Amino acid sequence: MCIVTFDWERNDAVEKVKSFSRNNSLSFVVLELTEACNFNCMWCYAAANRGGSSRHMPWEKAERLIKILADSGIKQVTCSGGEPLMYPHLERFVRSATEHGLIVHLNTNGYFLTKERARELKKAGMTQVQTNIDSLNPDEHNRVRGNSESFERAVAALKNARDAGMTAVSQTVLTKKNEKDVVDIFRFARSIGVQRCRVWDMVPSGTAIENIELRPTSFIGTLKELCSFAEETGAISVESADPLFPANHRPGIDVYGGICAASMGGFTTISVQGDVFFCATLRKTLYNAFEVAESNGNSIRDIHAEKVRKFVGQLHVPDECRECEHFKLCHGGCPTRRAFSPDGRDYWCIRPRPAKISGPCAMST
Ligand SMILES: C[S@@+](CC[C@H](N)C(=O)[O-])C[C@H]1O[C@@H](n2cnc3c(N)ncnc32)[C@H](O)[C@@H]1O
Repeated sequence: MCIVTFDWERNDAVEKVKSFSRNNSLSFVVLELTEACNFNCMWCYAAANRGGSSRHMPWEKAERLIKILADSGIKQVTCSGGEPLMYPHLERFVRSATEHGLIVHLNTNGYFLTKERARELKKAGMTQVQTNIDSLNPDEHNRVRGNSESFERAVAALKNARDAGMTAVSQTVLTKKNEKDVVDIFRFARSIGVQRCRVWDMVPSGTAIENIELRPTSFIGTLKELCSFAEETGAISVESADPLFPANHRPGIDVYGGICAASMGGFTTISVQGDVFFCATLRKTLYNAFEVAESNGNSIRDIHAEKVRKFVGQLHVPDECRECEHFKLCHGGCPTRRAFSPDGRDYWCIRPRPAKISGPCAMST
């Protein structure tokens, strides 16, 4: 997940990313508790609402998974989906995960996050809520998300999360339609009390593959602009889960990360059935968490490291990347983006391409 996060206040995530940079073992998990969703987003990597499947993780399995994650030394679980506020056991999940020592965050479209629900989740132990703002034009935002009340509900959800005492995070999926407006989106988010603002370039996965022409034109350029905005407005740090940022840029603000956490084995996504994917967007099943935990003393930690190493070792990385001085920093960039690049390089890489080799006929004319 090549997300880049800008922080204006201290929160539990800043320390998490710092400790992750020191320790490359599995530390945080995005858990898809349900496949059900009331939205129909143009870029949904999970293709929620498309396949007709809307399974929830049964409570017994969720309870078992909490123990597996805790016994595996995982620090944070982010409840996602589908739409996690449609998961019937969410509050119970948050309470139990918190009791097991996990930091619990929520990624939601915000539609069902009333003031009361936000207070209940906070009481259960939730510390952070993330909701998208994809445009400041409500009609455009609603069109992207496939729900006519999406914008007003998202804004209310962020305010409700903040008022309940949780960290409110806005996320913008960058496309060529909103990349010029994202500084204004950040400014708006800050004006309603959002403490952390995130961007993620629209990655070709799930439904996004049908809308691939919507990819932004300049992700790295937009990140540089956002760094300037962050500096001007007193942000304290940036956490980059993008392997290509800030490789070629020295912003005047502290940036942590700048690596692909999935490739380093520090982060993963788990499905409703317990299938462990390489990443949310590169949804290759590496193993099943329940099966591996059963035969490994309730822990997935060591097997995860082994499976990721093997999978990453099999991925194609062009020779020119391996020979590049930046390879030790970027490891060839994002594997999902590489799969959609004509030359096999991450399409956001700004290192010069080698000159085209002309054929012998062209040379002789
Ligand atoms: C799949 S949703 C699940 C959680 C919840 N329903 C929600 O709307 O946040 C998780 C979030 O990942 C981001 N996302 C989904 N597909 C993406 C893609 N193809 N590229 C970049 N970000 C994406 C969006 O911010 C989305 O809100």
